[in-house]
Amino acid sequence: MSSVDSQQRVLSGMRPTGKLHLGHYHGVLKNWVKLQHEFECFFFVADWHALTTNYDDPTGIQESVWDMTIDWLAAGVNPGSATLFIQSKVPEHAELHLLLSMITPLGWLERVPTYKDQQEKLREKDLATYGFLGYPLLQSADILMYRAGRVPVGADQVSHIEITREVARRFNHLYGREPGFEEQAESAIVKMGKKNARLYRTLKRRYQEEGDMEALDTARALLKEQQNISLGDRERLYGYIEGGGKVILPEPQALLTPDSKMPGLDGLKMSKSYGNFIGLRENQDSVSRKIRTMQTDPQRVRRTDPGEPEKCPVWGLHKVYSDEPTREWVQTGCRSAGIGCLDCKKPLIDAVIEEQKPIRDRAREYEDNPDLVNSIIEEGCEQARDAARDTLDEVREAMGLRYR
Ligand code: TRP
Ligand code: SF4
Repeated sequence: MSSVDSQQRVLSGMRPTGKLHLGHYHGVLKNWVKLQHEFECFFFVADWHALTTNYDDPTGIQESVWDMTIDWLAAGVNPGSATLFIQSKVPEHAELHLLLSMITPLGWLERVPTYKDQQEKLREKDLATYGFLGYPLLQSADILMYRAGRVPVGADQVSHIEITREVARRFNHLYGREPGFEEQAESAIVKMGKKNARLYRTLKRRYQEEGDMEALDTARALLKEQQNISLGDRERLYGYIEGGGKVILPEPQALLTPDSKMPGLDGLKMSKSYGNFIGLRENQDSVSRKIRTMQTDPQRVRRTDPGEPEKCPVWGLHKVYSDEPTREWVQTGCRSAGIGCLDCKKPLIDAVIEEQKPIRDRAREYEDNPDLVNSIIEEGCEQARDAARDTLDEVREAMGLRYR
């Protein structure tokens, strides 16, 4: 079994909701593209999650899965660097979800803020289902399955990472304390050699008695370097620093995705449901038309009326796309009626189309080659299943289910 460095592992997922737009690109995808070079990344299409709210009408999920995968690839998520997969093709997620459900108090799920919020928001749907209540735990299973230390999510998902940490802690507490844990940990310390053993004990004491976080980090780094101890011993010693049992499922941390600065065509947040979006790989004519017909400062009725950029959604786009001199030109030209609104929009149209060019080119390659997309997904699912099986083996063993 391979050893997992959970601090190096990133996992994130997205529900398949159809084609993505520039808001997703500036918010989520650019971040993923950056992370894939820094960490071992797993990105997956959360199709079961889509069913938790759309069980009554699953048409479209399949097509959305396809479109979204192409969008990711087009945006520059690279299957050579990151593992891309589809949740339902790694059914191990269902087993881990079930096993974790045994130890998850109902109250924890009922108290997740999104539970009540979403029920309020989606009033027209009957969300009094078992699947909907359990969906944050399904997300916990997604994360813990890969022992991912970092999970890029938006602010609305932070409570789901929090419950995941609680579930992991409870799991380790219940099942990480095998009989004779302390004796085993103590003899593992000795195996590291005199010098390292002394250092480990000092760091452990500094963390436990003084709450010294640096000592915790140093101790973890020390364990990572050890060649003489088994994987099991290493996990014991990770847990032992903190005074707990063996860490079977490490607690993840939310990597908060900065709020997308990308406004929609009406100045509100870009969103599919508001109909104010520009598609990630929308064609050029349509992009140009959407920007040309954007509302501007309502006070600026005639070309000769001066305007105020702060009251104009077009200015919001300049803040994302334009350099300083262009912004100066907009501010001065608008306030003095020196430029017309179409003049003002022109550099934006060019900038958006320019940004989308490599995206559109890559997308075309994949659209024309479905076999390639399929093989990327197949391979990603295989890799994900390998990692998932490693975790499940340990989880089953810890829970006393080792008779297969
Ligand atoms: N629940 C997330 C959303 O609705 C998607 C998701 C499912 C996810 N599983 C995840 C995100 C695991 C991060 C990690 O956006
Ligand atoms: Fe908006 Fe530009 Fe027209 Fe001013 S000139 S109102 S910023 S579109």
